[in-house]
Amino acid sequence: MKVLILGSGGREHALAWAVKRSNRVTEVVCAPGNGGIAEIARCVPVDLRDLDALIRVALAEQPSLTIVGPELPLSLGIVDALQDRGLRVFGPTRAAAMLETSKGFAKRFLQRHNIPTANYAVCTTAAELEKAVEIFHPPIVVKADGLAAGKGVLICQSRRTAIEAAQGLFTGSLLGEAERQVVIEEFLQGDEISFLCLSDGKHVAALVPSQDHKRIGEGDAGPNTGGMGVYSTDTLLEPGMKEWILRHIAEPTVRGMAEEDTPFVGVLYCGLMMTARGPQVLEFNARFGDPETQAILLRLETDLVDALEASIDGRLAETELRWSPGASACVVASSAGYPGSYKTGFPITGLSAAARVPGVQIFHSGSDRLGSQLVTAGGRVLGVTAAAPSLEEALDRAYQAMAEIHFDGIYYRRDIGHRALRRTP
Ligand code: AMP
Ligand code: GLY
Repeated sequence: MKVLILGSGGREHALAWAVKRSNRVTEVVCAPGNGGIAEIARCVPVDLRDLDALIRVALAEQPSLTIVGPELPLSLGIVDALQDRGLRVFGPTRAAAMLETSKGFAKRFLQRHNIPTANYAVCTTAAELEKAVEIFHPPIVVKADGLAAGKGVLICQSRRTAIEAAQGLFTGSLLGEAERQVVIEEFLQGDEISFLCLSDGKHVAALVPSQDHKRIGEGDAGPNTGGMGVYSTDTLLEPGMKEWILRHIAEPTVRGMAEEDTPFVGVLYCGLMMTARGPQVLEFNARFGDPETQAILLRLETDLVDALEASIDGRLAETELRWSPGASACVVASSAGYPGSYKTGFPITGLSAAARVPGVQIFHSGSDRLGSQLVTAGGRVLGVTAAAPSLEEALDRAYQAMAEIHFDGIYYRRDIGHRALRRTP
């Protein structure tokens, strides 16, 4: 099989690594890929915002399977476009991806299907919003409806600042593009869990749970990022919780999408807040998470390509996913200044020594190759990922590998996994 992966980050590097391990796969192509992915796959340049260019790459390559990494091509309808041209592709259609691409759609869907989520109002005008805000108690969460690369959520300490934030979203002064609708939402407290499942449109298969670290600073301080690190353990969820989430959140979501004639095939990423009154949906993503995928795939023992094909073919109910027991962790190394502005082009050294640490895999999020030299090319640069029998050992391995790596301005959080470690008696 020849497999085409669309995307350029650490998630796609991990997907390429896992796909390559399948003995059915003879060739992996990644568009556009990055400097690290180029070591294990052939990379083809493409602009992920350009639907026609993506279609041209797929038609030229004629892969047996295409895997879509990021949300942007899903929102443009890449899955529909490739299916129309007779290609096999893993990911939701544009209509099904609305669970991620429109927060207003997702909230109304959750309410229609009685799936637990924060109380909310979807507003289309500033006047509507001013009225709705009166019934919420601060802090009030204000969300852009559309894709915002993690910058679309504002936690406001007063009604006045919530109204100002929403006005900024409506006029476009906050995100650059004006939002047609804005969601305001009750503030939820608890631990966040990334609960990812494969869905074949009817059945779901849970992947191992993980916990992301979205803020830039240690102790979860400072602005939101794409994710600075993640870990996965068997004890992340209380006993019975996985089944509860499947029964009350993931399965009703997939059933609801099928009933509404927009069956969801792909990765259903449930972003959950574990609150005092149980798990509540914070958001859906319609794709693999980044950096969740790096930690999750390091624990997958079964063939990823088989599992993705079972999703496409509606055979998930008969498919068993096996996972290595224990834990994995991914620590992200970022450029100085990220998530604000940062410089790129700095040489990355020490990768071979880092890769020699047992259990470690290094996935590149933003790197480029200049001749034989790898250089930084993004805000998030590397995801140093390790698996081990315990979380402590997985983290030790990841940090030991990280200590070998250098580039100008390298920054990483030293407290990945702190919530789990705190909980350990
Ligand atoms: P989202 O894109 O909806 O996941 O939001 C990004 C982040 O904002 C989440 O990962 C949470 O940390 C935070 N967040 C979103 N919604 C809420 C909420 N209702 N209450 C508290 N925090 C939230
Ligand atoms: N790590 C969060 C995301 O992939 O959206």
